Amino acid sequence: MKLFLDTANRDLITRWAKSGVIDGVTTNPSHLAKEGQDTKAVLQEICALLPDGDISIEVVVKDPDAVYKQAKEIAALADNVVVKIPFAEQYLPVIDKLTEEGVRLNITLVFSLIQALLVAKLGVSYISPFIGRLEDIDANGMELIGDMRQVMDNYGYESEILAASLRSVMHLHDAALLGADVATIPPGLLDKVFKHPLTLQGIEKFDADWASLGKKELLS
Ligand code: E4P
Repeated sequence: MKLFLDTANRDLITRWAKSGVIDGVTTNPSHLAKEGQDTKAVLQEICALLPDGDISIEVVVKDPDAVYKQAKEIAALADNVVVKIPFAEQYLPVIDKLTEEGVRLNITLVFSLIQALLVAKLGVSYISPFIGRLEDIDANGMELIGDMRQVMDNYGYESEILAASLRSVMHLHDAALLGADVATIPPGLLDKVFKHPLTLQGIEKFDADWASLGKKELLS
């Protein structure tokens, strides 16, 4: 399973890139709005921080022709870029053309199985169902992940399921069990994985027991 970081914060990306478990980053306009005016430099830096990772960068224009043009410009930023395009009828011809031309796409703001099916048919690289936002309206986000897994496997579509809008460690747990290919994780959620109370208590107890021996070296 691939794990992406859901942020545009370079300090956090630098911190987690060192762990070796992060395979990419998903940015969006909301993340970018927190990082200042020089959006091009921020995005280029993010691409350089994880040169072997996939970095999703979202288009910010509306007209389909402008989306096509901006998608090409975004794709030219770095080799590891994936262009993010929101799901919408008017973008389907653009998505089709871009995938034909070999541009890797991440279709974002996906909230139903049929939305996912339509863009899987066009051969996009990633499809991002938004779990937390579905739950915000009392819909079942995890069921969507399971249904998408089944349809991708039924028909052999190659698009990867990118579980997005994750709000809890249990979301990540369930997305992994249901066969999401990727989960994009807000850095704060990743922090929680390491703050499991039993892990922290266990370390404290081992430290105290070792200290009670009064030795400095383990192997002498
Ligand atoms: C994914 O690519 C999105 O950036 C993200 O997961 C949105 O999550 P939110 O619903 O917490 O804003």
